[in-house]
Amino acid sequence: MRIQFDETNLLAAMVGEAHGLTPAEYKAQLRRGPEVVRAFRKLVDRGEVGFPLLPFQTGVLKEIQAFARKVRGAFDSVCLLGIGGSALGAWALDCALRGPHPVQKPFSKANPRLVILDNVDPGLVGAALETMDPKRTLVVVVTKQGNTAETLAVLLLVRDWMGRRAARQTVVVTTPGRGDLYALALREKWPVFAIPENVGGRFSVLSPVGLLPAALIGLDAPRLLRGAARMSEICWKTDPADNPALRAALLHHLIWTEKKKTVHVAFPYSNRLWATAFWFRQLWAESLGKAKTRKDEVVQIGQTPVAALGVTDQHSQLQLYVEGPNDKVFTFWAVEKQPWEGRIPKGRLRLEAFDYLAGRKLTELLDAERVSTAAALTEAGRPNCTFTLEKLDEEHLGAFLQLLEFQTAFIAELLDVNAFDQPGVEAGKRFTYGLMGRPGFEEYRERFEQYLKRRQKAL
Ligand code: PA5
Repeated sequence: MRIQFDETNLLAAMVGEAHGLTPAEYKAQLRRGPEVVRAFRKLVDRGEVGFPLLPFQTGVLKEIQAFARKVRGAFDSVCLLGIGGSALGAWALDCALRGPHPVQKPFSKANPRLVILDNVDPGLVGAALETMDPKRTLVVVVTKQGNTAETLAVLLLVRDWMGRRAARQTVVVTTPGRGDLYALALREKWPVFAIPENVGGRFSVLSPVGLLPAALIGLDAPRLLRGAARMSEICWKTDPADNPALRAALLHHLIWTEKKKTVHVAFPYSNRLWATAFWFRQLWAESLGKAKTRKDEVVQIGQTPVAALGVTDQHSQLQLYVEGPNDKVFTFWAVEKQPWEGRIPKGRLRLEAFDYLAGRKLTELLDAERVSTAAALTEAGRPNCTFTLEKLDEEHLGAFLQLLEFQTAFIAELLDVNAFDQPGVEAGKRFTYGLMGRPGFEEYRERFEQYLKRRQKAL
């Protein structure tokens, strides 16, 4: 397993002192590595943060595999109900390892479709129900808190649509003893897979949240964990030279705070990593966008994550990136070896715009476009860096997800913010409960009415 981080284009020598790191800044920042690793280690050792330990939970993995074996061949659709961190990880795994939906192999009981209902848009839910057969659908309900309005509303609809089958064809992933979903699961005798208390939604892809759907659609869950376990070991190394997550976190932190790059573009040159970019967008936004430091100082800090797809978005975003405000840092995600290289036929048409491509490979063109984009950005003084995955299989993906989680946790240490809470999301959830009339949330209904009055007066 090999994943490399190349920071050359973050350096002042490449993008100038105003936008890149001088040798002194670079060296001083890398010296902070051991202190950052030790600070994060304390949180893990105290049991406050659990994601680094997920790859080593072999008992949970065995339970998941046994369940997946038991139901294999009975369903052609796995319908996942969940939102945010309870859905994005499964999408990232499915998209990376089976390809984006339009190019996945035909679905069957041997290769079930993963239908993710992560919205309450009736246009999504209604259409999805029309395309599935309740006889051949397994429902996986994922919510850490077990009270999330969106997930539970869709569950009520799907349960009704399943009829009597819901009793035998529903499985729950939640934190036992927490929310009302757990209570319902006990009542209905649905199997329950546990999300550890100390693993938050966006850090939970390697818990049953991601592993159960992965196993149900036939992905190699043990290999995902093997890659993640190897990466965990690397991520605990205190020398940034040996630890790509740490080096990336240290350098991104400085580029963000000192060079004022408040937008972070994750730029995969792989359609298979497209969903991972959205998973990363949530990880970065919710973990690092905070009002206060852990010492309660008001900072209102955050770096806006953007997902861009190479090469597609060269023809939609690159103009802005090269010539617009210099407020962004770019992280390319490259995959070295592709299972199919796409050799272009050698025949010449005696037309200049075609003939230079004859006999070349799509992989060659994809790489040429990525390095050219990096060169264009660098020439324009836009800092950028690259993660390169040797290939895109379960092992590398598990490792890469774990690396990105460590990177996020490390940068939170540097910013002194809590990466593992989301008070802003909770506030929105409480307003919704108030508006929809959930008992106990009347205060939020009143606050909402005040807000409406202010709107009326404002015009
Ligand atoms: O990362 C997070 O904690 C959030 O995005 C949650 O995953 C999201 O709000 C859904 O919450 P829950 O899993 O409790 O339904």
